[in-house]
Amino acid sequence: MRLDKYLANMGFGTRKEVKKLIKNKRVAVNEKIETVDKRQVDEYEDYVTLDGEEVVYQKYFYYMLNKPAGVITATIDDFEPTVLDIFSDQDFRMDLSPVGRLDKDTEGLLIITNDGALSHRLLSPKKHIEKEYLVKIDGIMTSEDVRRVASGMQIDGGELCLPAELIIDEVDEENEETTARIVLQEGKFHQIKRMVHTLGKEVMYLQRIRMGQLYLDEQLDLGSYRELSEEEITRLEKR
Ligand code: URA
Repeated sequence: MRLDKYLANMGFGTRKEVKKLIKNKRVAVNEKIETVDKRQVDEYEDYVTLDGEEVVYQKYFYYMLNKPAGVITATIDDFEPTVLDIFSDQDFRMDLSPVGRLDKDTEGLLIITNDGALSHRLLSPKKHIEKEYLVKIDGIMTSEDVRRVASGMQIDGGELCLPAELIIDEVDEENEETTARIVLQEGKFHQIKRMVHTLGKEVMYLQRIRMGQLYLDEQLDLGSYRELSEEEITRLEKR
């Protein structure tokens, strides 16, 4: 890979900016100042420094975002703010994408990565990776609803869902509202809203709280993100 690309990939500026760093003799390869921006470097073998500090090459990036309502799960959009707009200039990369989709009004755990293979595995219904949601519902959920969700229900009179789990946490009889969790192994379009609607009730609030065995970090403010640890990345694919 070209030296300027290597540095730009690692977030040290645009191609133009990093060319300047190289020209100004601030970059060394294997302890020798390098002034040729198209010099080829091996990202795993060569020792690259900027102002004497090692530039460690990282191919994949993994972030947990606590998605707020009001932003769309897309990379760029001309009209609406996207989840990638939340990223700082330092962390933003063109190849980052969200893993799956949360509706504009849904909050909570969203993984953002440039590891396309991991993303694919997490979303494949065949892998049965669980996604758990906290749901506030207008209406009272019943044990019959639990049974219907568990048996793999049809939504909109057609589409068949995989068996899922409905856990009723709290029923407010007076206001006719329910707080529940729903655990899915897939992610159909508006799936939870459509399931709840089919059961004769409506979703008032939806938040994703878990993917695989990775829970949303409660310390992470709404609208904030942070990198995942190695251990957290492995927990994503645990069942
Ligand atoms: N189900 C929905 O209806 N919306 C989401 O954002 C996620 C799951």
